[in-house]
Amino acid sequence: MNFGGKVVIVTGASSGIGAKAAEFFCREGAKAVLVATNETKLKNISEKCQMAGGNHIVIKADVSNDEDAKKIIETTIKEFGRIDVLVNNAAVGRYGSILDGNFMKSYDESVHINLRAILQLTCLAAPYLVKTKGNIVNISSVASFTSPNGTVGAYGLLKAALNYFSRTAAAELGSSGVRVNTISPGPVYTDIIKNSGARFTFDQLKSTTLLNRVCEPDEIADIILYLASDKAKGITGSNYVVDNGTLLK
Ligand SMILES: NC(=O)c1ccc[n+]([C@@H]2O[C@H](COP(=O)([O-])OP(=O)(O)OC[C@H]3O[C@@H](n4cnc5c(N)ncnc54)[C@H](OP(=O)(O)O)[C@@H]3O)[C@@H](O)[C@H]2O)c1
Repeated sequence: MNFGGKVVIVTGASSGIGAKAAEFFCREGAKAVLVATNETKLKNISEKCQMAGGNHIVIKADVSNDEDAKKIIETTIKEFGRIDVLVNNAAVGRYGSILDGNFMKSYDESVHINLRAILQLTCLAAPYLVKTKGNIVNISSVASFTSPNGTVGAYGLLKAALNYFSRTAAAELGSSGVRVNTISPGPVYTDIIKNSGARFTFDQLKSTTLLNRVCEPDEIADIILYLASDKAKGITGSNYVVDNGTLLK
């Protein structure tokens, strides 16, 4: 897939799925914009992008902060002059159930990052995406379709809302030539569990899948690149499930 001359924003590019997608976009010739808050991790991924041969910039920004969201778009336009692809990947895991008393806490701590930031960045990037007939890839989760345990309620709720918003955005922006697609992974080996402070491990999640395995980040990054590429020119409003058969269990 050739992304030569294309400008791609990847949020949550300091870790896991976003880091691998940023590296792959650079390998395929894109001008990548790496967005996250952890400078040490961003520096590490920036070096990988450099080695992959890509022209890229790093923007330290909290996607849930409106001023930072504006900074992401304005800096991209100032540096590269256009936006072809927006990958809304940044999210946090916050867990709590109704009866354990932490449901509202888990919702409040994640709604601005996992949902509002995506709505905001979509609105800010859309005029530029219309100019390039570009596209958006949103990273959701199989948790948006089913709650495998009682503590992912708020996380799944926000991902379900993201699925709805993705279809809404696809419907509105399609007539302007902008595609919007979603990917719903099952478990993927990343830092998300560690970052959330949860007690379970990815290996414990293997048994929740039909294929008894957990994906690697590059499996999801490959699909991000495919959906963002011209090979997917006929695909919009889709939701690609990559879950090792979790939904069939
Ligand atoms: N791993 C899985 O099993 C799995 C399954 C289904 C869906 N997903 C989804 O996949 C996406 C990527 O997650 P991951 O598994 O790769 O997790 P991860 O390794 O924890 O990476 C999350 C990324 O989001 C960034 N981020 C978090 N809060 C941010 C904020 N306020 N502003 C800017 N960046 C922020 C983090 O960067 P900083 O810490 O540097 O800010 C990091 O780069 C998420 O949407 C997640 O919901 C993951």
